[in-house]
Amino acid sequence: MSTAFDHPTYNYSVVRAFTIMTVVWGVVGMAIGVLIASQLVWPGLLADIPYLHFGRLRPLHTNAVIFGFGGSALFATSYYVVQRTTQTRLFSEVLSGFTFWGWQIIIVAAAITLPLGYTQTKEYAELEWPIDILITLVWVAYAINFFGTIAKRKMKHIYVANWFYGAFIITVAVLHIGNSAVIPVSAFKSYSVYSGAADAMVQWWYGHNAVGFFLTAGFLGMMYYFVPKQTGRPVFSYRLSIVHFWALISLYIWAGPHHLHYTALPNWTQSLGMVMSLILLAPSWGGMINGVMTLSGAWHKLRHDPILRFLVVSLSFYGMSTFEGPMMSIKTVNALSHYTDWTIGHVHAGALGWVAMVSIGAVYHMLPALYGMKPGQMYSTRLINTHFWLATIGTVLYIASMWVNGIMQGLMWRAFNDDGSLTYTFVEAVDASYPGWFVRVLGGAVFLLGMLLMSYNTYMTVRQASKSEPNSLKTDAQPA
Ligand code: HEM
Ligand code: HEM
Repeated sequence: MSTAFDHPTYNYSVVRAFTIMTVVWGVVGMAIGVLIASQLVWPGLLADIPYLHFGRLRPLHTNAVIFGFGGSALFATSYYVVQRTTQTRLFSEVLSGFTFWGWQIIIVAAAITLPLGYTQTKEYAELEWPIDILITLVWVAYAINFFGTIAKRKMKHIYVANWFYGAFIITVAVLHIGNSAVIPVSAFKSYSVYSGAADAMVQWWYGHNAVGFFLTAGFLGMMYYFVPKQTGRPVFSYRLSIVHFWALISLYIWAGPHHLHYTALPNWTQSLGMVMSLILLAPSWGGMINGVMTLSGAWHKLRHDPILRFLVVSLSFYGMSTFEGPMMSIKTVNALSHYTDWTIGHVHAGALGWVAMVSIGAVYHMLPALYGMKPGQMYSTRLINTHFWLATIGTVLYIASMWVNGIMQGLMWRAFNDDGSLTYTFVEAVDASYPGWFVRVLGGAVFLLGMLLMSYNTYMTVRQASKSEPNSLKTDAQPA
């Protein structure tokens, strides 16, 4: 994959490839998000085509955004950060290429099999067993490549961002193998080796830690590199970052049962999940504060730097969703929020506000460096600024409408008349939800528009770089 932009020390070609695919899968996954949000408002939309029903497109949306968009962002940034903080080229060219193509094939396979209806029906682990085997192979290659690079590093110290990326890689391997244990009966059908309540428990041990490690730990790695870099200051407290790391990884793994309150799961496991989730607030906020305080003395930079705005606002949403999550894990609160749009609002406060915003900030930071331009030299900074406002407004519209809907639905479902009968039929609660669902379509469309601006800006930056000095990377050998 040799190009005019090759770096003398680092393997930037794989980082470039994953970075471009982050933008591509971001647009695709969020467009499907807007489509399924529209299907909830206009149920007749695409109703004649079985492959494009809400039930088939919804897992396609989650797979495209989490694994396509989020996954590509994690591969891109971890490969970038590990090289620059160890001053070493990636361990293997072959493994780098294999992880890139393997990961893209997995997402394309998801895009084909999910609309066709092939699914294991486990949330965020829907893909059938042949694809699961490919995921395992790619992940093992990723682990060897990442830890191999750390092993041949040029300095003793391992920067904290790599700790978070490392924990994400190891834990996702364990989760994926544990939850995907199945007995295949044909090329496209398998049955879980677990059954009943144990199956549900394993699934949500996986599901919650997919949130904790795929959607959080890896992105915290991103935060620990790109916030100090973009701010031009060292991380506020290195000691706090280490405490943050150990506390987060030792607590997250116990919190899964909060997804199964009031189910057949033993009561003590539900309570354990709740308590661990409440304690989780502390390290989450410790990390958030550490990121935000890195800006001490540099707050003025926010006035001119939209990339920094993305990073700082992502931390605010991280703080918000990690406050909301522990509250929702309290059993009595969950009795109101569970099954309602409140959960969906919480998910997207994390997904759009935190995961997407920090990734977008990181991509804008990396792109000029990857294409041999000076830092911050994207085609248009004004477009980044417009993107920032669209992303912020889109996220707020999405989550505010889901809060209103969620609390309203929860209250309507539990309202009783004096004679003990239900005050509202279920369909009345559905009817009352339409305005909120419409606002969500608007919010999603606004966010998507921002992503389209990002695609244009990315395309123009790459084009500009190709026209100017393609070899300028040769002088850009400074480490992190
Ligand atoms: C334009 C942006 C987006 C829109 C319009 C959108 C829309 C939707 C809709 C309509 C649902 C189904 C809700 C339901 O079943 O009631 C959903 C689910 C979901 N989305 Fe998104 N989404 C967007 C971006 C994202 C991103 C960037 C991520 C992750 C990084 C994400 C992760 C998820 C997850 C995890 C679920 C499942 C939630 C659950 O089961 O509780 N979404 N999204
Ligand atoms: C301290 C941190 C957090 C805690 C304790 C927490 C807790 C919770 C709780 C209690 C639920 C509702 C479970 C239910 O009623 O079914 C939930 C759902 C969810 N949360 Fe969080 N949350 C946290 C942070 C986050 C973050 C940062 C993200 C995203 C980046 C996130 C993504 C999700 C997703 C995707 C679901 C929906 C799962 C599903 O039902 O499909 N959470 N969380």
